[in-house]
Amino acid sequence: SIDISSLTKQTGYTTLDQGFVNTASTKSAITYIDGDEGILRYRGYAIEDVAKNSTYLEVAWMLIHGSLPTADQLGEFEEKIRRHTLLHEDLRSFFSALPKDAHPMSVLSSAVSALSTYYEDSLDVHDPEQVEISTIRLLAKLPTIAAYAHKKSLGQAFLYPDNSLSFVDNFLKMNFGNMAEEYEVNPVVSKALDRLLILHEDHEQNASTSTVRLVGSTEANIFASISAGINALYGPLHGGANEAVLKMLGEIKRSGEGVEKYVERVKNKEDGVRLMGFGHRVYKNFDPRARLVKESAHEVLDSLGVKDDLLDIAMELESVALADDYFIERKLYPNVDFYTGVIYKAMGFPTRMFTVLFAIGRLPGWIAHWREMNDDPKTKIGRPQQLYIGEPAREWPSAR
Ligand code: ACO
Repeated sequence: SIDISSLTKQTGYTTLDQGFVNTASTKSAITYIDGDEGILRYRGYAIEDVAKNSTYLEVAWMLIHGSLPTADQLGEFEEKIRRHTLLHEDLRSFFSALPKDAHPMSVLSSAVSALSTYYEDSLDVHDPEQVEISTIRLLAKLPTIAAYAHKKSLGQAFLYPDNSLSFVDNFLKMNFGNMAEEYEVNPVVSKALDRLLILHEDHEQNASTSTVRLVGSTEANIFASISAGINALYGPLHGGANEAVLKMLGEIKRSGEGVEKYVERVKNKEDGVRLMGFGHRVYKNFDPRARLVKESAHEVLDSLGVKDDLLDIAMELESVALADDYFIERKLYPNVDFYTGVIYKAMGFPTRMFTVLFAIGRLPGWIAHWREMNDDPKTKIGRPQQLYIGEPAREWPSAR
């Protein structure tokens, strides 16, 4: 039995909000979401306009600095990033210490954490110049790390970055090129990947961004904070959902049970099975990113001439679920990750790389939030409260 009076005394006016359903952890000027209306804006600009008119690096600059860059600012930013894409040669050998089948998300978070060991002279979180160079290093090197993780899983040689190419084209080449032949970038794939990265760049206080902020609130360096964010993203209820969606579609195909049967199992909560890529804590109408991703899915598959049964299964699942009371009552709609996996697969990425692509997309948002928090003199270390529900004080047993 618990002594309630001692509990009351301890908790005072503490609010219990499991999963932060109602509690804001911070103020922020970066991203606006209206979940009921399906609105997402980066620095005030509608996501539809941003995705149509911009590039990953331009959006990164805008998220971090608050406004669109001038042509000179953007050119300088792109050039700086180009000059920092290489990894220290010693870090290349880090990859050979890991098992061949290491999950690339674990490789990514470990390598980002390890990056800080090479830059110990520029980790001062209060020095704007050091924060700026760390920002450039992270944006430039994360794609290289990701491509090395991919190449390692294939047992293929790593390709050095090709800095004559654009950010996205270089990334594609590092993943799909090889030493023996020229690599030709497919412009439709390049444009679609850039667009997908843009759609993932920020999403205010999601689990990984909140993790980055919490770790950063201790004045941990930016590499340590981002590495923690990557680990938070890894989970299947967050960034890992894109990998989980493709597994789910594959299982439906293999089992031959049909979409309707699978949806019944979801509704009956058999073995806790959920419709992956469906539902969102904030969007209760539709996820505006999902619409744009669905358009890209058709464009990419058509242009590559890929016919994938999994896209058909996904579309059937979507239409069955959207007409079903279970999903209507709970306001469950496809989220950004419902169709991304089908596109990444058509581009040639293995399933285990999908969440890594999300991490590259989300990196500018993590950096923008870390810097916003760090620039705010009112920032305090994040330290949630708890309601203690354990034993009241008791005597240590005399005879043990
Ligand atoms: N499939 C089936 N039922 C679901 C789903 C789903 N995908 N999502 C929620 N529900 C049901 C729950 O079982 C619950 O039903 P109940 O009222 O009968 O108990 C109700 O809807 C509310 O669900 P919660 O878990 O309370 O919703 P919450 O806001 O906490 O969760 C989340 C949001 C984690 C995204 C959830 O919808 C989910 O697990 N989706 C699948 C995983 C996924 O796609 N994650 C990616 C999110 S987007 C992103 O990170 C990019």
